[in-house]
Amino acid sequence: MESGEGRRQEKWRKRRVLILAVIAVILLAVILAIVLGVTLSKRRDDFNTKFMERCQKFKGYNCQKIWDAFQQAYVNRDPCDVPTEAYDPLIATFLFDVLCNRTMFWSKTGDVVHDFTRRKNCFKTVEDTLLGSVLNGLEWCGKIGSNETFTTGCPKWEECEKNAVLSFWKRVSAAFGEFACGNVTVMLNGAITTPFNRSSIFASVEVKKFKFPNVKNLNVVLVIQKNAVTNCTNESLKNLMLELDKGIGYHCFEVSDSHLKECGSDPEKPCGACW
Ligand SMILES: *[C@@H]1O[C@H](CO)[C@@H](O)[C@H](O)[C@H]1NC(C)=O
Ligand SMILES: *[C@@H]1O[C@H](CO)[C@@H](O)[C@H](O)[C@H]1NC(C)=O
Ligand SMILES: *[C@@H]1O[C@H](CO)[C@@H](O)[C@H](O)[C@H]1NC(C)=O
Ligand SMILES: *[C@@H]1O[C@H](CO)[C@@H](O)[C@H](O)[C@H]1NC(C)=O
Ligand SMILES: *[C@@H]1O[C@H](CO)[C@@H](O)[C@H](O)[C@H]1NC(C)=O
Ligand SMILES: *[C@@H]1O[C@H](CO)[C@@H](O)[C@H](O)[C@H]1NC(C)=O
Repeated sequence: MESGEGRRQEKWRKRRVLILAVIAVILLAVILAIVLGVTLSKRRDDFNTKFMERCQKFKGYNCQKIWDAFQQAYVNRDPCDVPTEAYDPLIATFLFDVLCNRTMFWSKTGDVVHDFTRRKNCFKTVEDTLLGSVLNGLEWCGKIGSNETFTTGCPKWEECEKNAVLSFWKRVSAAFGEFACGNVTVMLNGAITTPFNRSSIFASVEVKKFKFPNVKNLNVVLVIQKNAVTNCTNESLKNLMLELDKGIGYHCFEVSDSHLKECGSDPEKPCGACW
């Protein structure tokens, strides 16, 4: 009798331990799933949140409409097959600000040019426009069979040229070139042998959009650092001059980066007086 009672108690104890263990495992799995799900959806929402926050800094635009048009370009698409035209509806959702005499292009001078445009409310680069500033530094892509925006696992620029990011920058740069008017300025790099490189976005997309008489004049600011290797007589710049639409004037200025820093912070100097 006594030993039978003991065995039953022993069985119950074992069963209780087993049930507790199963409950613990289930609880752990649920917690893990919640944490993972929250992290994943948070990462996804981060992109949309950042897009909206940056967009809302520009007053008077319908950011939801812009977001909808933006993501239509690449969602549910092969991430290596996003043509530049996919962004046409996005570009058509709102008018670009026309900035006569104040549009600034650049190639291989990203740091200098953005430091310069930030110092004074004068010239604007494509990164200072709504779309350019909203998407500056971001990465994104879509996948076939999904409505979602992915920010990881997207193809690198070397992997395929028709990727969502590069096609966006080509399309928005083309629009920026189209809306340029009056005096147009470009900052090129005097520390490289070929400042006007045919494979750059400036050469292959933007210059081709400059049309006379909208654009009257192109001012090349060749940024010269201590290690200057080239100057305004360089052959590649001659090619740039020859490629301009007939009627557009051309000037080239060799300007040191220290002068740009100084002059750019001088509130007395009018726009364009730094070269
Ligand atoms: C641009 O500059 C030209 C002179 O070069 C001037 O006639 C024109 O009014 C300017 N446009 C704007 C919008 O400032
Ligand atoms: C994709 O978006 C469409 C329209 O917004 C919606 O009807 C559809 O359910 C979405 N599909 C998925 C898989 O989320
Ligand atoms: C336009 O560029 C030309 C040539 O560099 C310059 O003489 C003129 O002052 C500029 N005009 C404006 C409005 O920036
Ligand atoms: C032009 O730029 C491309 C891409 O950055 C580079 O591979 C090429 O060497 C450059 N060409 C010259 C002549 O510098
Ligand atoms: C410009 O550079 C070339 C070599 O690339 C040199 O021969 C010429 O003297 C330079 N011109 C000036 C004005 O510095
Ligand atoms: C000037 O341009 C030509 C042709 O575009 C290039 O081959 C050359 O290396 C450039 N630079 C210098 C410093 O001569």
